[in-house]
Amino acid sequence: MIQEYILANQQRFLDELFELLRIPSVSADSRHKADVRQAAEYILKKLKEAGADSVELCETKGHPIVFGEKKINATLPTVLVYGHYDVQPPDPLELWASPPFEPVIKDGKIFARGSCDDKGQVYMHLKAFEAMMKLNQLPCNIKFMIEGEEEVGSDNLGTFVKENKEKLKADVILISDTSLISLDCPSITTGLRGLSYLEVEVTGPNRDLHSGVYGGAVANPINVLAEMITSLHDENGRVMIPGFYDKVASLSDEERKKINSAPFNLSDYKHDLNIDEVQGEQGYTTIERTGIRPTLDVNGIWGGYTGEGAKTVLPSKAHAKISMRLVPHQNSDEVTKLFTKHFLSIAPKSVKVKVTSHHGGQPAVTPTDSKAFKAASKAFEEVWGKAPIPTRDGGSIPIVSLFKKELGLDTVLMGFGLDSDAIHSPNEHYGVKNFLIGIETIVAFHKHFAQG
Ligand code: BES
Ligand code: MN
Ligand code: MN
Repeated sequence: MIQEYILANQQRFLDELFELLRIPSVSADSRHKADVRQAAEYILKKLKEAGADSVELCETKGHPIVFGEKKINATLPTVLVYGHYDVQPPDPLELWASPPFEPVIKDGKIFARGSCDDKGQVYMHLKAFEAMMKLNQLPCNIKFMIEGEEEVGSDNLGTFVKENKEKLKADVILISDTSLISLDCPSITTGLRGLSYLEVEVTGPNRDLHSGVYGGAVANPINVLAEMITSLHDENGRVMIPGFYDKVASLSDEERKKINSAPFNLSDYKHDLNIDEVQGEQGYTTIERTGIRPTLDVNGIWGGYTGEGAKTVLPSKAHAKISMRLVPHQNSDEVTKLFTKHFLSIAPKSVKVKVTSHHGGQPAVTPTDSKAFKAASKAFEEVWGKAPIPTRDGGSIPIVSLFKKELGLDTVLMGFGLDSDAIHSPNEHYGVKNFLIGIETIVAFHKHFAQG
């Protein structure tokens, strides 16, 4: 019995996950290159131990991709599990209650960078696989593709997918890298937002100036940048870039009603974030604002003097990182172009503006009438005793649309995190319960998918 197997082995499962969580596989930071590889090698070793009969570390221009496979019968369907072993940088370190790469369990939650996003969720798949192998219950063929560059845009994975279509042949992609509503209310993600990420640089005078000698007569790039950014939204919270909303799919009243019928408590939401009021595009609910509407946010802004004390300086440059979350049927490259054109057009003559684009990704929606989605629903019903609610998530997994485009495959987004797990933030955590029930639900998915 699967439940018994999980119960009997849960301490070892957690010990093994902790070992993975101790490896600081920060893909964005070149100082962690060797650590990223070590995490890949750990996954590879564990896949092999769990019973994969071919495993390999696929080299890329960046961090390696772990590939593993267990083929039991060519006539049976194949599930391709995707996930990522890289993590976001842990800073600001001083805000962690315990060090980010020294996992601990507190109040039934595993605290560590990557515990939820995505090492903890990837590890559920490894242990579900191990359990199915040990219990002689693997009902279908299974492939694993676990990458190390998701948090930096998956550029090399795109190339890998295009060049390895035969190797990646499957019937469905299964990903656990999203969240569900709560442990009382399971849900399956049916849509993800896309992303366009840019950096802007505003240059005023050719050098930092004395703010008394020159202040008032020469444009201050920080003041200018702040004004330019402010002008990107109107008073109704709409993004003011011409053409920004042109391709945004509008939902029928019925679809909106359905989305808003998911359990959501605004005062809990505000309480959790310690805010008195929410804010966003007028005419839409909080669920809609993060699920089906596009946004523009400043992710970072800097320039001038930020050290201790005061320095009276009129800086030469100001910078900001700006991201836009996109929804069907917006296109990341198009939106990047619209932003660039607009941002350059609103620059006053007193400054020079440069816009550079970082990674992006297309939005995605997944079908809810497929055999795989039905199998996922059944798995939740069986293990959780409740049918899952379809939801749209605000985050992005750019590779989902690429899987569809390059491999013709649909994805099932069966995530087990919670929005409150603090992914990308200090004190990221993942419930031990989520981890264990996730393993069981994944096993049930494979069973129903193979039967379906
Ligand atoms: N797992 C997240 C995406 C996510 C989180 C989707 C929660 C739904 C719910 C993923 O690792 C992530 O952080 N993606 C990035 C995009 C990437 C291009 C850097 C994101 O959404 O910012
Ligand atoms: Mn993730
Ligand atoms: Mn992430």
